[in-house]
Amino acid sequence: MGEQLKPDKIMQLGMGFWGSKTMLSAIELEVFTHLGHGPLPLSTLRDRLGLHERSAHDFFDALVALGLLDKNDGHYANTPETAHFLDKARPSYMGGMLEMANNRLYRFWGDLTAALKTGLPQNELKHGGPGLFEAVYENPAKLEQFLRAMTGLSMAANVEVARQFPFDQYKTHIDIGGAQGGLPVQVALAHPHITGGNFDLPVVRPVFEAYAKSFNLLDRLKFHPGNFFEEELPRADVLSMGHILHDWNLEEKKALIRKAYNALPDGGALIVVESIIDDDRSQNAFGLLMSLNMLIETPGGFDFTGAACRGWLEEAGFRETRVAHLAGPDSMVIGIK
Ligand SMILES: C[S@@+](CC[C@H](N)C(=O)[O-])C[C@H]1O[C@@H](n2cnc3c(N)ncnc32)[C@H](O)[C@@H]1O
Repeated sequence: MGEQLKPDKIMQLGMGFWGSKTMLSAIELEVFTHLGHGPLPLSTLRDRLGLHERSAHDFFDALVALGLLDKNDGHYANTPETAHFLDKARPSYMGGMLEMANNRLYRFWGDLTAALKTGLPQNELKHGGPGLFEAVYENPAKLEQFLRAMTGLSMAANVEVARQFPFDQYKTHIDIGGAQGGLPVQVALAHPHITGGNFDLPVVRPVFEAYAKSFNLLDRLKFHPGNFFEEELPRADVLSMGHILHDWNLEEKKALIRKAYNALPDGGALIVVESIIDDDRSQNAFGLLMSLNMLIETPGGFDFTGAACRGWLEEAGFRETRVAHLAGPDSMVIGIK
C-alpha cells in the first residue's frame, strides 16, 4: 500500500488567507500596539479597538490560536515576537510591509486569475490610474508608509550586505532607489569610513533625510535626487540596487545595469539585492510569488534567477560576477567592473 495521502497542506494553503487577513486586520487595528503597555482583559481591549461584541472574542482567541497573542487569566498579551516586531511604539516595528499588504495587495491579489490570463497589472493601472510609484507617492502619508515598508522588508538583507560585502576595500557607496535609506544606513553604521548616500526620486528626500538624521549620519550620507531612466547615475566605488530591477521589464533592467556600469570606476562593484530565484526555479517560493506580485503591480516587472542576473551583468561588461545568499529569501548578485 502506498503512503496515506493527506490533504492538510492543500487545505492550509487554500484557507491561508483567513489567518493572513486576521493578522493584517490586527495590525491595522493596532492590537499589538495597544497591548504594548501590558496585558488587557477582553472587554477593555474590545472597547479600545472599537470592536463589535459579536466579533471580539473570536478575533482575539483566533490570534491566540494563531500564535500571535498569549492569554493568561482572561488577559490578552503580545508574544515576544509580536511585541518586538508589531508594536508601532517600538523602533523594531516592521509592520510597514504588512500594512501595505493589507491596504493594497490583499485586494489586488483577488484578481490574480485575471492577471494570469491577461498578463496585465491588477492595481490602480487596471482602471486607467497611475503606475505603482505615482499611486504610492500621491500623498505624503502613503509615501512615508511605502518607504517605511521597504525598510522593514529589506532590513535583514541590508544588515547582511553590510556584513558580507568587503566595503573595507572601497570608499564610497550610493544606493540607487534606496527609499528611506535602509541599506546606506546599515552600510554606514557598519563601516565608519564609507561616505555616499541614496539616489532616488526627488519626492523621497525628506523621508530619507529624516531617517539618516535619526542615526546621525547626515554628514556622511547625502541625497541625490533624480530619475534613473532620465539621468545618469551618480559616481561611486560601489553602487547597489535593492528590489529595483524586479520592478522593470528586461530592456529596462538592462538599461539600469548599463547605467550602473558606466558610473563605476574600474574595479568598482554593483550589488543587486532581490529575492533571487534559485536557478532551478523550484525552491524559492517567496521569490516566485514576488514575481507574481510584480505581475500584479507593474506592466513588465519580474523577479529572476541568479544565473539570469549574472548573464545581464556580464553582457554589460562586468568582468566578475557571483551570487551570495543574504537572509531568508534574499540574495545578492555582485558584479565587479
Ligand atoms: C521597491 S522600492 C525598493 C527600495 C529599497 N531599495 C529596498 O530594497 O528596500 C523601489 C525604489 O525605487 C525608487 N524609484 C522608482 N522609480 C524610480 C526612478 N525612475 N528613478 C529613481 N528612483 C526610482 C522608488 O522611489 C523606491 O524607493
